[in-house]
Amino acid sequence: MKLLNKKPVLLTLTAGALLFAISVLTPSSDAAYFQSAKSLYLSKCAVCHGNDGSANTAKGKELKVRPLNSAEFKKMTDAKALEIILKGKGKMEAYEKTLGKEKCEMLLAYCRELGK
Ligand code: HEC
Repeated sequence: MKLLNKKPVLLTLTAGALLFAISVLTPSSDAAYFQSAKSLYLSKCAVCHGNDGSANTAKGKELKVRPLNSAEFKKMTDAKALEIILKGKGKMEAYEKTLGKEKCEMLLAYCRELGK
């Protein structure tokens, strides 16, 4: 009888410890997503938009790029902003062919984060 009572407790403890280990050891997919968006942004976009989105770079100033926390960008719909990344606009080249739509969407999400 005693043994029967202990089993569920032990099982629960083991399962709990396992779940805890898994949650600590695997980065959440959110964090991984954010990390790849960030490195892509830094390699493709930061020249003009700045590491922090401030556009405070030589290229950014030359091309008069707005900071990503500007009221204009905040007002801009995701559809419009995504179109700019996909198709390009003015001095900004199009990225649909080289990066694909999914990565462009990911970059837009990252731009929104920087603009907060
Ligand atoms: C050569 C410099 C340059 C690079 C590199 C560049 N951009 Fe831009 N970006 C611009 C300019 C200039 C505009 C404004 C275009 C306009 O309205 O005429 C702009 C506009 C935008 C906008 C709209 C926001 C706003 O306030 O107008 C987004 C979003 C954006 N860029 C994202 C990106 C992303 C993501 C990348 C990297 C894949 C990138 N840009 C790379 C120059 C650049």
